[in-house]
Amino acid sequence: MDYKARSAELVAKMTTEEKASLCSGLSNWQLKSIDRLGLRGGYLTDGPHGLRFQAEGMPMGVSVPATCFPAACASACSFDRGLLFEIGAAIGDECRQEGVSLLLGPGVNIKRSPLCGRNFEYFSEDPMLAGEMGAAFVKGVQSRGVGVSVKHYAGNNQETRRLIVDSVMDERTKREIYLTAFERVVKQARPWTVMCAYNKLDGEYCSQNEALLTGVLRDEWGFGGVVVSDWGAVSDRVKALKAGLDLEMPGGDTWNDGEIVRAVKEGRLGEETLDKAARRLVELMLKMNELSAYEYDADVHHALARRAAIASSVLLKNDGLLPSSIFKNAALIGAAAKSPRYQGGGSSHMTPTQLDNAVREFTKAGLRFDYAEGYAPDALEPDEALISEACRVARGKDIVYIFAALPEKMESEGFDRRGIEMPRAQTELIRRVSEVNRNIAVILSCGGVVDMSWEKYARAILLTYLGGQATASATVEILLGRVNPCGKLAETWPVSLDELPASRYFPGEGRTSEYREGLYIGYRWFDSAGRTPRYPFGYGLSYTTFRLADLYLSDTHAADDGEITVGCKVTNTGTMPGAEIVQLYVAPPEGKAFRPAQELKGFEKVRLNPGESKTVWFKLGGRDFAHYEPESGRWCVESGDYEVRVGVSSRDIRLRASVKVESASAVFAVDRRAELPDYYAPEKGLEVSDAEFASLLGREAPHYGVRPYTVDSTLSEALECEAGRAALGRYLEPGEGEDDQLRRMFAAMLPDMPLRSLNMFGDPQLSRGNLAELVEKLNASK
Ligand code: BGC
Repeated sequence: MDYKARSAELVAKMTTEEKASLCSGLSNWQLKSIDRLGLRGGYLTDGPHGLRFQAEGMPMGVSVPATCFPAACASACSFDRGLLFEIGAAIGDECRQEGVSLLLGPGVNIKRSPLCGRNFEYFSEDPMLAGEMGAAFVKGVQSRGVGVSVKHYAGNNQETRRLIVDSVMDERTKREIYLTAFERVVKQARPWTVMCAYNKLDGEYCSQNEALLTGVLRDEWGFGGVVVSDWGAVSDRVKALKAGLDLEMPGGDTWNDGEIVRAVKEGRLGEETLDKAARRLVELMLKMNELSAYEYDADVHHALARRAAIASSVLLKNDGLLPSSIFKNAALIGAAAKSPRYQGGGSSHMTPTQLDNAVREFTKAGLRFDYAEGYAPDALEPDEALISEACRVARGKDIVYIFAALPEKMESEGFDRRGIEMPRAQTELIRRVSEVNRNIAVILSCGGVVDMSWEKYARAILLTYLGGQATASATVEILLGRVNPCGKLAETWPVSLDELPASRYFPGEGRTSEYREGLYIGYRWFDSAGRTPRYPFGYGLSYTTFRLADLYLSDTHAADDGEITVGCKVTNTGTMPGAEIVQLYVAPPEGKAFRPAQELKGFEKVRLNPGESKTVWFKLGGRDFAHYEPESGRWCVESGDYEVRVGVSSRDIRLRASVKVESASAVFAVDRRAELPDYYAPEKGLEVSDAEFASLLGREAPHYGVRPYTVDSTLSEALECEAGRAALGRYLEPGEGEDDQLRRMFAAMLPDMPLRSLNMFGDPQLSRGNLAELVEKLNASK
């Protein structure tokens, strides 16, 4: 079907009211229909690592069983585009079975700080990796005729005050770090929709940020789809529509549809702007209407989830203890061995079709073992009785498997983490058990970086992250050496949070979060400052060994618009089949602009039998050498000798070669050494003054006060005055009947929720139409 022509035809037949009605949803998870034109409103639902479809009548927190695949924190460690495509395609098929036409994901936001509560749902600290993983996943879902919503565009890197916070960053940081993953996904995979973030960027809510939604996304990157709001992200509906936001979600409160009609009638909004949005929406609906039925095989998808969990697990430490065998006499310790931690909390939380656990899987495998709980699930403080019992069970065994897991209540959408420590209940257990038996293998499940000062007590550590419903069976296969672990870290694991400059500025104060560390996050920071993390980006062990050799460059000279092919031979020099993830980094010469010491520009995963060799290939183009120049608003390549580095982690570079670049765009590079001394010398620690940050930004960092009250004022701000307490006090009373992780999320989010988002709870007093009156009362009150 020619969707464009058909949608133009249909929109031409619509009244202004009908067009405006399409600009918001019918309910939480469905679009509106226009029956007389045969347009049916399809379903759209979360995402991202499995389907969370709430069928008619299901209470909040309950969803139709679906396969829970590894969360993005885990799947990114596979560095495997093909796998991400397969997972996407499988979820697409599950959408078809449930009649869902659009999946709300993937999330490609950057992990700026380990404290972001939602890091588990994001791929990486590196925009290239996040973009590549996101694009492959999107291609997979969309290959089944199901759309996606790539989220949260953009600069949503924390949960604290996420609905109102202004992410204050300079243009270069925005372009080089926080927009790049979206750019890759949009250009490579053509997602049907993009979901705008809650926060502000450049002082404007993303939902009504024209430079972001139209300037960059549509005009620069050529995005032709629909922009959807995050749930409750719209502040000024007319402004949002003008900026390029087509669909407001969730639906239910139709006041804003009326506002669009009023604006057209009063001449505040050109009808052609509404027409454009309506045409894009109808095009989306036409595609959604073509959803074809499917019945998936839950066992086949479970097997894929297991394969994905295997490919996503990272062996962090191993002195030869692993792989083990079923013939060993084992102790199995930890509550997580029976009830695993395998997915994150919040809008992505779903009901799995089945759930493996390690105790059952080891039993199936024929292992002889004794089990001890070791710690109570969710407990923070050590329990002497449980620890003593664990020590008793561990004593004299050939091997001790300790299953450790960061409790769900410590990380979730809706709030940020307070620190990265594991509960003492578990670290103390590991230490004490090591006193009676040194042969400890720890299996660690968590959604993000944790403190590892206990690593010395373990001879082996396998990190599964949140590996989905088949994590446990995948783990047992790895521990017993039936498969070879091959994942690599998609984020740097620091020794402590204090080492990271971002920690100083995260999550900010008041209504802002200042990104003073600029480009220097993750390995960009560690490598530029010459510091050593606990585990570097791109790191992960294997049961076999690999050799990299014969670096080949198609040319050692390049222009900024040329392309170079890079190749290298990889050989499996060990005794077990396995996969290596070969990574290509580019290190720029010293130039006018400050640059991170090196950046990831390519990666390939290669599977090899013992003794086998293959050559992996990469392409490098001008953008791979470039930085963004805010003054001229363009990508710029400085001339000079760039080092091409090929390795097996950011800190294990095996091959190097130099490329001499002669660049026409070099003239645009600006030397800002005098105004930005700290950014040119990150090794000094990046304690950036107000003045230097203002220079980087090109403006003073904004500050926001509480008054006057507006629809964007938060609940806690409103509660500072008498009228607010009278009208809204009950919102802080604890909710009932929701499952724990959702209640935790809402309880954490509520105080910082803007008044305009509270209409999601269906209170007529807070419907959009009544808000103006409430705001007036707040302003008149003490
Ligand atoms: C989240 C989105 C999610 C939406 C619908 C929002 O609170 O930020 O990621 O898709 O809710 O559940």
